[in-house]
Amino acid sequence: MPGGAVVSGPVVGADAMREAPVTFKAYLMCAFAAFGGIFFGYDSGYINGVMGMEYFIETFEHLDPATTPKNDFVVASWKQSLTVSILSAGTFFGALIAGDLADWFGRRLTIISGCGIFIVGVILQTASTSLGLLVAGRLIAGFGVGFVSAIIILYMSEIAPRKVRGAIVSGYQFCITIGLMLASCVDYATQHRTDSGSYRIPIALQMLWAVILAIGLFILPESPRFFIRKGQKDKAREVLARIRGQPANSEYIEMELNEIDANNQYELQSIPQGGYFTTWFNCFRGSLFQPNSNLRRTVLGTSLQMMQQWTGVNFVFYFGTPFFKQLGTIQNPFLLTMITTIVNVLSTPFSFYAIEKVGRRPLLLWGSLGMVICQFIVAIVGVTDGDNPKAISAMIAFICIYIFFFASTWGPGAWVVIGEIFPLPIRSRGVALSTASNWLWNCIIAVITPFMVNKDEGNLGAKVFFIWGSLCTCAFVYTYFLIPETKGLTLEQVDKMMEETIPRTSSKWQPHSTFAAEMGLDEKAAAGPKVTEQEV
Ligand code: BGC
Repeated sequence: MPGGAVVSGPVVGADAMREAPVTFKAYLMCAFAAFGGIFFGYDSGYINGVMGMEYFIETFEHLDPATTPKNDFVVASWKQSLTVSILSAGTFFGALIAGDLADWFGRRLTIISGCGIFIVGVILQTASTSLGLLVAGRLIAGFGVGFVSAIIILYMSEIAPRKVRGAIVSGYQFCITIGLMLASCVDYATQHRTDSGSYRIPIALQMLWAVILAIGLFILPESPRFFIRKGQKDKAREVLARIRGQPANSEYIEMELNEIDANNQYELQSIPQGGYFTTWFNCFRGSLFQPNSNLRRTVLGTSLQMMQQWTGVNFVFYFGTPFFKQLGTIQNPFLLTMITTIVNVLSTPFSFYAIEKVGRRPLLLWGSLGMVICQFIVAIVGVTDGDNPKAISAMIAFICIYIFFFASTWGPGAWVVIGEIFPLPIRSRGVALSTASNWLWNCIIAVITPFMVNKDEGNLGAKVFFIWGSLCTCAFVYTYFLIPETKGLTLEQVDKMMEETIPRTSSKWQPHSTFAAEMGLDEKAAAGPKVTEQEV
């Protein structure tokens, strides 16, 4: 048994499935892949500050600061909404297509081509001096971000050792938060420039993240699960050995590979094979009331990402600057936005530990509860005493606590869970669909928010937090009934767990047999223990 593991439940069979120890190299590989989060975060974050910059408004709105009243010196609501949301629209389609490409050409190549497309989009944005080119550039860049955001999760979940899979995928979220923070720092630094550098520097800088990620991925190995899907077991063995830092003929590699292979064969038995549309249709097969059906998993992944967006987090990150401006007494809305992004970064590492220690379900439950409380406080204070500077400070403090809850729970949690719930034959598409749902809702929220909040439109102001608070209440109920506990299981064990249990009882489920044994690929194999807290 690895590392003197304490087994909390029955382990059937003579041998526990041995696993390779997690090497430093394995950590490093996954940590590098997480880097993809930086340009996801940066790209979605820089626009918030840019739209508040005087030079940008002057150029894109053709306004003269000398003659235009300060209150009118803003980007029109429809332009704000189009510019912010077009990125998510591109990302939605990019993520959908990327699922197919990842199965045809591999996870790595898909991510690398995403970086290439992204760079083209960034060049157009940098060159732009009018809305048309900026929007076109954001659409194309978004397409590239879609490739990267969907496939990085797939790739990381597939190469990470189960003991630290949650923590490692949380690393991706950590990078998203760093990206957002870097964007607001760069915006902060260039905001007062009186030349095109004010917006061009924050935009152009993103190319650097794409170049670094693409170069790194040339060096990293492909996912072994991709080769198993392709029927190339030898190649899968070779890359798994590299990823785990073990000889290709070691018992560790043999067992892990057999289990991945057997699970794939098992799943393929129950899924009809066929042409392009049949394989897409497989994601929607089965009944919604059967916890392990493909339809149920697809609905779970897509709705989980929808819920993550419903928490309202991007209201703060996309529209924080104009919102803080609207609160009246705030001297420096840019600084406040930057502070919220710093809180976001500093709170995320808490999840590295918590996601493996307490598990996915409790983390999401507590997170939604914390967010509900903070959002209702902000809304109530805003409505009852919104002009009092002390009340405004309290609102800002609770917005920061709300960000803490999001960053340490739902931020990483949603990504971790979508990487785990799909069986291999539909995994790339399932993760892609779920990621696309994240971007679809991201886009919908970006489109409607300015109309709900801005003074010349719905003028909801702080009342908008009643909406986010109510949606977070839905997230709490949703988690309680629908999210299974996947902590400590291999991706193949998650598949079995979903077959044999329901979400509310899933945390008690213990592995009791392996696919390799069931499929006759490994007579000796028995279930590995669930990883316990002591091991993590
Ligand atoms: C969400 C993004 C959000 C970010 C904030 C991510 O998990 O998907 O929409 O901007 O977290 O940190």
